[in-house]
Amino acid sequence: MRGTRFLIALAGLAITTLAIADDHSAAEPSGQAVYEAHCANCHSGGFGGFFTGAPKVGKKKDWKELIPKGVDELTTNTITGIGEMLARGQCETCSDDEIRAAVEYMVEQSQ
Ligand code: HEC
Repeated sequence: MRGTRFLIALAGLAITTLAIADDHSAAEPSGQAVYEAHCANCHSGGFGGFFTGAPKVGKKKDWKELIPKGVDELTTNTITGIGEMLARGQCETCSDDEIRAAVEYMVEQSQ
């Protein structure tokens, strides 16, 4: 009987811990999620990348010249738009923080 109670308490603790972990990720936008929803169309190669010439995430050669600009400048350029890319990579609903998180994710995947 005692053992069961202990297990139930333990399960409760695990759930609480998970809930806290979840809260944290909600506060900070997930760069990967923003990227996949709004940027991958052009930045993961394939047709979108082929037609627009967008630097492909994961292709080091494409990012060799871009990464040295730093995340700050890359984020600013994405927000204002650069070359063939319209402002915010066409994601009108993305906040500045979400754009930055996506840029960080893309840089991480491409070095
Ligand atoms: C419609 C296609 C398209 C979408 C969608 C798109 N991009 Fe781009 N992106 C481009 C193209 C094309 C370039 C190259 C621009 C140039 O230099 O001419 C580019 C360049 C970039 C660069 C390099 C900027 C620099 O300083 O040279 C970053 C960073 C970037 N995109 C991030 C993003 C992020 C983040 C998103 C999603 C929120 C996104 N892009 C969505 C087409 C796209």
